[in-house]
Amino acid sequence: MDSKLVLAVDVFDADYALDLSRKLSDELFAVKINWPLMMVKGASIISELSKYSKVICDLKVADIPNTNALIAGKAAEMGAWGIVSHSIIGKDSLQAVASISEDLRVFSVVAMSNKGASQYIYPHTDELIEMSRELGVYGLIAPGNDYEMLSRIKRQAGKMKVMAPGVGAQGGSAGEAVRNGADLVVVGRAIYNADDPLAAARAFNDEISKVISLEKE
Ligand code: XMP
Repeated sequence: MDSKLVLAVDVFDADYALDLSRKLSDELFAVKINWPLMMVKGASIISELSKYSKVICDLKVADIPNTNALIAGKAAEMGAWGIVSHSIIGKDSLQAVASISEDLRVFSVVAMSNKGASQYIYPHTDELIEMSRELGVYGLIAPGNDYEMLSRIKRQAGKMKVMAPGVGAQGGSAGEAVRNGADLVVVGRAIYNADDPLAAARAFNDEISKVISLEKE
């Protein structure tokens, strides 16, 4: 299936993460892992999940270039399809991630879905987008619960894909996120905590499909 849905598997139970990724694989563009799962399973979970889906490592890399390169290099070695990196740390640090491998797509954080992001990151979003473009990164992270910011980022993204967390538990709607420019929609708790995660994933996909069909009319 040609899905825009990215499942954030922020759980400590690796068996549940693997089971969910296998069962939902037809509904997903990718699974996204973050520190909770990495902390209990280590980097080997990347290759285990890769059997079922593309894996995006949302490690929000935010360190000096050497450390960033070590982390991103390990993600690439374990078979990650993509990685999320902060950009606000500076061009040298983002470049270290972007230079690892063409097979490791980098998503650069230029705004975030938490309220506090408006304090320091939002005032620099336009510069961070420009820097990300100069470095040739694959995609940008934009808030899927702040449609004004999301569409502003999309207007400036050009060829860069826009991935939007903030949908479901953080209040954003998948349909509105796509209508406002999300190429990929990240959903975590609203799927992995649902009584029926498969039905929940299908419902998000239906919502997205409706918006895409309306746009084609
Ligand atoms: P929930 O459960 O809120 O999970 O659907 C969302 C997932 O996405 C991550 N997240 C973000 N990552 N920029 C990012 O790079 C953001 O603005 C952002 N907001 C949420 C969150 O850590 C979780 O994995």
